[in-house]
Amino acid sequence: MTITLAFDVYGTLIDTHGVVIALEKHLGDKALDFSKTWREKQLEYSFRRGLMQNYKNFSVCTRHALDYTCSSFKTPLTQEDKETLLEVYKVLPAFDDAKEGLALAQQAGFRIFAFSNGSAEAVEILLTTAGIRDFFLGVVSVDTLKSFKPNPAVYSHFLRQAGATGAESWLISSNPFDVIGAVSAGMRGAWVQRSPDAIFDPWGIEPTSTVQSLTELTEKIRSTP
Ligand code: 2OP
Repeated sequence: MTITLAFDVYGTLIDTHGVVIALEKHLGDKALDFSKTWREKQLEYSFRRGLMQNYKNFSVCTRHALDYTCSSFKTPLTQEDKETLLEVYKVLPAFDDAKEGLALAQQAGFRIFAFSNGSAEAVEILLTTAGIRDFFLGVVSVDTLKSFKPNPAVYSHFLRQAGATGAESWLISSNPFDVIGAVSAGMRGAWVQRSPDAIFDPWGIEPTSTVQSLTELTEKIRSTP
């Protein structure tokens, strides 16, 4: 059985808090808190747009979430400052373990895809800038379906695009909602617990496997019956 991997992008391969350095200029020691709220709102907006069936490209969720966060932190950034931050968001860095983790998965013969809420164009730019694009057979985006994770239809869409079945496919994500969505839709799911404080939602839908770093992933998958 050939194993197919669907790597989540934002928060799993690419560090959304890579924008903190650019935020420090405006927010000082509140930059990380601002970044966390920005990210939480971005995801909330994607969930809400999915439920409302009022789809807009993920970059619109990012932009609106930035506007919200500026209001919440009472930090009235100029339009130019916001555009600069959104440009930084397009070229966020990869996590330190991404390259080694992907190389190990490639050496194991796994079929590797990126699977994201982000548009294919945005993800291509991110992965290329981060120097990890060559590990992937392709980029699958929810944008084709005009919905967002964790709509079960987007996981089916991934399987169709990758030419794979749920039983032989793993969603790899640091986002518990994404892992739960994938497992609930019939895929296997590895949760990347990027911090000891990260909590997996207590829904009774468990990850097939949990790793602390992407470098542990290949061995964990290989040892899973
Ligand atoms: C992604 O799809 C959920 O943001 C996450 O890349």
